[in-house]
Amino acid sequence: MTTPVARPSCSPTIETLQSRLRTDGYAVARGHVDAGLIGDLGVETNALLGRFAAGDRPDDFWCYEDGSTDRPMLYRVHNLEKQGAAGCADLFRDAVLHDLASALIGPVRATVCAMVVKTPGVAGVPWHRDRIDVAPGTAINLSVFLDRAAVENGCFEAVPGSHLLADDADVPRTHDLGPRMAVPAEPGDVLVHDVRLVHGSGDNPSGELRRSIIIEFTSQAG
Ligand code: NI
Repeated sequence: MTTPVARPSCSPTIETLQSRLRTDGYAVARGHVDAGLIGDLGVETNALLGRFAAGDRPDDFWCYEDGSTDRPMLYRVHNLEKQGAAGCADLFRDAVLHDLASALIGPVRATVCAMVVKTPGVAGVPWHRDRIDVAPGTAINLSVFLDRAAVENGCFEAVPGSHLLADDADVPRTHDLGPRMAVPAEPGDVLVHDVRLVHGSGDNPSGELRRSIIIEFTSQAG
């Protein structure tokens, strides 16, 4: 069965985003980050990719070795705020994403910052839940897209409403039962998802690089 693709629309209001986040466990704020900042972040993250390509392999650069080519495949730069990229560090500290996260779930603290990178040929991310040690609606991940994310280059996919399932819900069974929704995004879009959501992403057999910066925000309420 083909996974249905969510249709892009203009950016919804905060109330609509909140409602979708509560019901589906994810929502997309279209064009939330301006093109100038996306361009700056693109330059910084390309420099990090350049470091990796030049053979620099710090522990925070997560990669695996491709079985057929022995090539190291980078898929995540962890602790992105500590890699000497000022714009990325600013995004983690206090900027446009904090305002969006607090508008959605109240006072928040940024807890994790990373770049998710899908180099051409990289494998998809197996279906999973990021965390189940928090209640629905109290910890969210915001992903800023620096490149187009489409089905062809392994965009985000999720089972709507699965953030509300019990802690011990079976992830492969939830995936199989579906429905699964593919969520394409354009540069500047911000995908928000509940950390409890059952989600994953496909391989990137295309020649298109896809980068996103992901920040986890945890509620400080109560
Ligand atoms: Ni995840």
